[in-house]
Amino acid sequence: MKICYLNGPNLNLLGTRQPEIYGKSNLSDIAALIRQRATSRNIEIGFRQSNSEGQLVEWIHEIADDYHYLAINAAAYAHTSIALRDAISGTGIPSIEIHLSNIHAREAFRHQSMIAPVCQGQICGFGASSYLLALEACVMLEAKKANQTTKP
Ligand code: DQA
Repeated sequence: MKICYLNGPNLNLLGTRQPEIYGKSNLSDIAALIRQRATSRNIEIGFRQSNSEGQLVEWIHEIADDYHYLAINAAAYAHTSIALRDAISGTGIPSIEIHLSNIHAREAFRHQSMIAPVCQGQICGFGASSYLLALEACVMLEAKKANQTTKP
């Protein structure tokens, strides 16, 4: 199984950016954590970050051809981007929305996610572990898919 993680704007600053909200791990730490969990389970991981909405759209198109699942922390674009939402629904790639912080316990403008309705589900509020939980969600979806196809 292949999962690609996409990270949106300002997540390159993780580690130093508001650590009281986002934690002390930087993006490389998080990527290493996921890869460690994935390799023993024969899961291939892609991991990318961009501050540009257009780049994220391009990558979603590519990822839909190359990977089975998308795990996306769209950061601030989650709250605003119809383009990202359309890229997810337009390609049909099964996607998990991730946030480090609990967006529902923060400012009102963060409570809404443009992409949530086109994702399989949303994981937020568990810091770097939100990324690991997204991996578990993909494993669960894959098992469900396999179960459905083997049923008489
Ligand atoms: C975030 C939450 C967003 O509201 C914010 O704009 C981010 C990070 C998170 O991971 O908690 O940049 O996606």
